[in-house]
Amino acid sequence: MQPTNPNPDGMSLLKKLRDELVGLDIEVPTLSGERRRYVSLDNAASTPTFRPIMEKVNEFLGYYANVHRGTGFKSQLSSWAYDEAREVVARFVKADPAHQTVIFTRNTTESMNKLARLYPFRPGHVVLTTTMEHHSNDLPWRRRTRVVYVGMRDDGSLDLDDYRRKLAEYRGRIDLVAVTGASNVSGWLNPAHLLARLAHESGARFVLDAAQLAAHRPIDMKPADDPEHIDFLALSAHKMYAPFGAGALVVERKPLLDVEPDQVGGGMVDVVSLDGAWWRGLPEREEAGTPDIVGVVALAAAIRMLERIGWDAIVEHEQELTRYMLKKLATIPGVRIYGQSDPAGVSDRLGAISFNLADLHHALVAAVLSYEGGIAVRCGCFCAHPYMLCLLKVPPDEAEHVRKEIIAHDRSRIPGAVRASVGIYNDESDIDALCNCLERIAAGSYSGQYTMCKETGNYMPVGADCFDFEHHFDLAPRLPE
Ligand SMILES: Cc1ncc(COP(=O)(O)O)c(C=O)c1O
Repeated sequence: MQPTNPNPDGMSLLKKLRDELVGLDIEVPTLSGERRRYVSLDNAASTPTFRPIMEKVNEFLGYYANVHRGTGFKSQLSSWAYDEAREVVARFVKADPAHQTVIFTRNTTESMNKLARLYPFRPGHVVLTTTMEHHSNDLPWRRRTRVVYVGMRDDGSLDLDDYRRKLAEYRGRIDLVAVTGASNVSGWLNPAHLLARLAHESGARFVLDAAQLAAHRPIDMKPADDPEHIDFLALSAHKMYAPFGAGALVVERKPLLDVEPDQVGGGMVDVVSLDGAWWRGLPEREEAGTPDIVGVVALAAAIRMLERIGWDAIVEHEQELTRYMLKKLATIPGVRIYGQSDPAGVSDRLGAISFNLADLHHALVAAVLSYEGGIAVRCGCFCAHPYMLCLLKVPPDEAEHVRKEIIAHDRSRIPGAVRASVGIYNDESDIDALCNCLERIAAGSYSGQYTMCKETGNYMPVGADCFDFEHHFDLAPRLPE
């Protein structure tokens, strides 16, 4: 999906936004007792927010009231804002208004589970997905129907030949093809429109997991009569600079209208008698109960911010940072990157980079980065166990052995990697901080002594309790004296 939103001042706006990052000025404690600037490179998990979005949320709270049934001004304004937000999301992904609608959820996981519970699967039919998926785009399907997996190439990218093979093998018997837009582990981008066209030719509908994609690349679901269109899509606001609890599921209305609603209760019925209930149309029938109105407003504000910056600037900036990080990581002795590691290949990937450092445990590397560098990354399997095992080339008997250990509450040998992932506010100084600290770790010159907690699989510094959270934050609000 190519950038489509030229905006000449996008790059300068983007650079100014770094200073608007909420929490940029917060220094965090480290093992030496020194406080350090927090280097945030865990954006593939969740992104922080920006002051303009937070201000928009605060402004909205002044008008906040329940939606759709109140006659008060604030309730009507809240209802209007909530409905407007639906339009904002629909336009952002270029949904086809004649055929599709936006259902607000909590996140991508809830979106996928909802779709899996609702979809009218046919007996004997399958869902085709891939071994590179986040568990959220795999486990929900397994609960409802048989799942068939497309394999990976050696470099962790989707095996298109296998995709074509599986489509041919199950032709006419595939209800849904469900694929991620981008891997949360290797950052590989999938050719969503090609996959969608081939899925449609095999008689299947196409679901795109846009959790990773939505904040980093433009999305175009395309009109329903375009063979490359996307039928269903899920995204999470907390990965799009709006960590206030909302998500979205964009659906093709038709297949979901003849099925029973996922949840029943207030807000989704036209009329109820003691012996019957008549459901409203979509999307209301799939939004039972009071929705996360504030989270939805925040999501819309974040989308408006991304649109204002424009995709040209976002893509250029993130590709530049990804290129820089790949080049710098390659100079550190012992770094092994999983997936695309060629700095010239940044158009095939996002800036989520997973790696290991020599034979050091991934959790130890992540702990030193945090406790000594104030650097936030993530480690482990990133909720994509089958994919991680494939990238690490763990033999099946060893995988089975470790699985048994984990079930017995020993995570000490859990396979995994360290992941650093960029957002629009990161700059080269963040990558420099990461790579300087990794160089020290590679040279064995970090200062702490660390032990692993078998149950959690985390490393902790011995004899130090520098993360005194209560000293930094407590849950009691400031009340009038
Ligand atoms: C590719 C992908 N899909 C789905 C999810 C699940 O998202 P959420 O935790 O917001 O439900 C994630 C989260 O990391 C992800 O990276």
